[in-house]
Amino acid sequence: MILVTGGAGYIGSHTIVELLNKNFEVLVIDNFSNSELSALNSIEKITGKSISFIEMDLRNYDLLIEKTKEFDIEGIIHFAAYKSVGESVFEPLKYYDNNINSLINILNFLKERSISNFVFSSSCTVYGSPEIIPVTEKSEVKKGESPYGKSKIIGEEIINDFNASHTFSAINLRYFNPIGAHSSGLIGDKPSGKPNNLLPFVTQVAIGKREVLSIFGGDYDTPDGTCLRDYIHVTDLAKAHVSAIEYNRKNHNKVIPINLGTGNGSSVLEIVNTFEKVTKIKINFKINPRRKGDVPAIFGDCSLSKKLLGWEAQLSLEDMLSSAWNFEKNIKN
Ligand code: UD1
Repeated sequence: MILVTGGAGYIGSHTIVELLNKNFEVLVIDNFSNSELSALNSIEKITGKSISFIEMDLRNYDLLIEKTKEFDIEGIIHFAAYKSVGESVFEPLKYYDNNINSLINILNFLKERSISNFVFSSSCTVYGSPEIIPVTEKSEVKKGESPYGKSKIIGEEIINDFNASHTFSAINLRYFNPIGAHSSGLIGDKPSGKPNNLLPFVTQVAIGKREVLSIFGGDYDTPDGTCLRDYIHVTDLAKAHVSAIEYNRKNHNKVIPINLGTGNGSSVLEIVNTFEKVTKIKINFKINPRRKGDVPAIFGDCSLSKKLLGWEAQLSLEDMLSSAWNFEKNIKN
């Protein structure tokens, strides 16, 4: 059985679908701080399989031990964390408390329960603003530009240090920009309140929930002046987690960082234009000043994932955008 922390969230829920499709049994721990129980019901609907579930906060170690007693856990995928870059600047302690203490507890738990298979949800944010793109796993890890970003860098360091003192196999998956939704339209990115990320904002403008998309900066040193990112379909990303769990079964006893992207950079304007083409809906947008902390351009060299995990992204930008739109149309409120 695989323990998925934060399993009701955006990437977690898609990953569980792929785990169940590959006949893994799944135990979810989630405190619903930025997710809903309905996502778990949707997963069961999509797969026709059931999942075990515990509602709790991972910062409560005694409860974690107590509640998981009866489950035979082979591996852990640790998603549970806060993820808003902007919010983390205003509430740094909230981010360090949740993201770091939950990780420490889950690693203590891994040792106590003799689990040796660990997958961590990291981010390309560890590369900061890179001098050379595409970035490889050997590119320099930077200092971190926000408490959120630092919590991922520190998280990777904690896992490395722990691995030097205790034997287990770990993969730090460094995601580029996950977008899109499951082909069923039943699960997807559903931020509470005003979206920070680009795609939910675009779909909310398209459906009329928001009036205008603000494009942050049109004067970057990029082909059309807007930022470049490596957008990756969340279903592709989810499948990579299953491959990582399978790879760790070889007991390599190391910590391996792996980039997960498509290897292509797309600009914000390209996203808007492709969205318009795929959905035939016009997006009302305005080019505004740059957003503080944004990196002008980043995309990944994703050859290591292919070499080690046998995984590479399959789905196109059109697939990503049409599935995101399909999900938005299905959201009830
Ligand atoms: C950020 C983090 C990433 C994190 C992710 C999760 C950095 C460098 N990146 O990604 O590590 O995992 O958030 O939340 O810290 N944009 C607009 N208008 C909008 C929203 C976004 O123009 O309303 C633009 C941004 O300027 C950026 C692109 O769209 O160029 C993508 O932004 P976003 O979806 O917020 O992701 P990142 O900032 O790349």
